Amino acid sequence: MMTTINWNQVLDDIPNNASEAIVNSQFTSVLIETLGFTKNEMLFPQFPTGRSADTVDFAARKNIGTDKFLFSGVDPYLLVEGKGRAIATGAKINLAEGTPKYNATREQIKKYLLSPKCQTAQWGIITNGIHIQLFRRHGKVVIPATACTLINKSNISAIVQHIKSLIDNPPKALTVCIYNNKGGVGKTTTTLNLAAILRKQQKKVLVVDFDSQRDLTQTLGLGVGSITLSDCLINPKADVIKTVVPFIHTNKQGQQLHLFEVIPSDERMEEFTEQSLNQTTKTLTVPRGPKRLRDILKTFVYQYDYILIDCPTQWLFFSQSSLYASDVVLIPTKHNGLASLHNAARVITNFIPEIKQVRGDGGPIALPIFFNGEKITDPGLQTANLEIEKIINQTKKGSFDLLPYYWPKSTSGKADKTIFSIPSYATVANAAFSHIPAVFLNKTAAEHYFGIIKEYFLQ
Ligand SMILES: Nc1ncnc2c1ncn2[C@@H]1O[C@H](COP(=O)(O)OP(=O)(O)O)[C@@H](O)[C@H]1O
Ligand SMILES: [Mg+2]
Repeated sequence: MMTTINWNQVLDDIPNNASEAIVNSQFTSVLIETLGFTKNEMLFPQFPTGRSADTVDFAARKNIGTDKFLFSGVDPYLLVEGKGRAIATGAKINLAEGTPKYNATREQIKKYLLSPKCQTAQWGIITNGIHIQLFRRHGKVVIPATACTLINKSNISAIVQHIKSLIDNPPKALTVCIYNNKGGVGKTTTTLNLAAILRKQQKKVLVVDFDSQRDLTQTLGLGVGSITLSDCLINPKADVIKTVVPFIHTNKQGQQLHLFEVIPSDERMEEFTEQSLNQTTKTLTVPRGPKRLRDILKTFVYQYDYILIDCPTQWLFFSQSSLYASDVVLIPTKHNGLASLHNAARVITNFIPEIKQVRGDGGPIALPIFFNGEKITDPGLQTANLEIEKIINQTKKGSFDLLPYYWPKSTSGKADKTIFSIPSYATVANAAFSHIPAVFLNKTAAEHYFGIIKEYFLQ
C-alpha cells in the first residue's frame, strides 16, 4: 500500500542548515518508504558494503517470504547515500551536477554499488533533500537513471513517482553505442566481436546496425526481417519485433548455432540521413527524428542483457540517434591516429552533452577510450601520450576533466597512463570474409575481446 506523503510539510520541516542526520531521518527515510520499502525492508543508518570499513547510509530490499531484510541484511536492491543541506559551520552543501561535492558523492555511490555485499544492488540514490539523482548499476557500469534534479514542492511527488516506476520495472539491458566520429577505427568490428564474446558468456545480445552503409549486416551475411528498420522509423505502429533476425552459424560438425540477434540495416535507410536533432517540423519522415530509435528499442531493453549499436562516423541522424538510444558510449581510437584521439574528445565534450541536454535523464555517458587494431610500439605510445596530455590540458580550461576518459587508472596521487588495447590481429580482419566474428573462430581473438568486457562490463 502506498502511503500518501505530504511532501510540502516534509520539505517545510527540514531546516535550511539541516545536518546529514536530520535530512536522513526527516527526508531520505520518508523517500525510501514512499518508494515502497517498509521499515523492516530498510537498514539505516550505515549498511556495511563489504569493502574495507565503507558503509552506505541506507540499504533497502523487499522482504522475500520469511526473510526480513532488516534481520538478514543481505542482498540489498537499493542503496542511498544521504548528505546534509549544510555542514556544521553552516556552509551549504551543494550537490548540483558538476560541483566538487556532487562529483565526490557520485563516485561514492558508484563505489558502494560495486562493493562485495552490494552485488545485487541495482539502484543508487544520492540526495541532500535539495538535489536528488538516481543511478542504475549494470555489471560494472554505473549510469545515471535520472538527471541530477533540484527538488521543489511542485516536482517532488513526480520525481519520487518516476524513481519508483523505474525501480519497480528495472530494465535488463545495458545499451552500448560504439562510436567515434572517425572512420576506420573499428566501430563495426568491435560491435560484432563484443556481441560474440558476450554471447560466449551466456549473455543475451541484440545488435543493431544503425548505419545505412550496412557494413555489419553484410559482414554477417544477413537479410532483413519481415519488417525493416526503415519501416519502423517511418511508422511508429510497425511491429519492431519483426525486424529482428537471428544470427545463426553452422559449425564444422554441421550444427546450427543460434548466436545472437540482429536488427539489420536496410537499403532505404539512406533516405533518413538529413533528419536533425532539433528539427520539429511536421515534414519529418521520421517522427521524433533522432529520438525515434530509442522508442523502437524500448521493448528490447526488458529482454536482452546487452543491446549493441553500430553507427556511422558522421555526426548526423544515425549517430545522433544511436547516442540518444544508449546508456553508454564506447569509443575506439588508434594510438597512432591522433585524429581519433581528438575526435574522442569531441564526442565526450560536445556530442554527448548535446544529446544529454535533449534527453534530460542524465545519459548517455562515455566509457574510457581504448586503442584498437594497431601494433603498439613504445615511440608510438609516447607520441600518443603526449597528445593525450595536450588534449586533457586544453579541455581543462573549460569545465571538463578528460583524465578519467583517457587514463582511467590515474588518480590525483598516482599517474597511470594505461589504456586498454585490442591489438591488430589478422584473424579479426579476415573474419569478415567468413561472415562470422573472429571471436568464434579463434581463441586468441576471443581472449582479447574477453579482456574488453572484463575491463568495461562484467562485474
Ligand atoms: N583489432 C583489429 N585487428 C585487425 N584488423 C582490424 C581490427 N579492428 C578493425 N580492423 C579492420 O579495420 C578496418 C576498419 O574497421 P571497421 O570496424 O570497419 O571500422 P569503422 O566501423 O570504425 O569504420 C576493417 O577492415 C577491419 O577488419
Ligand atoms: Mg563501421
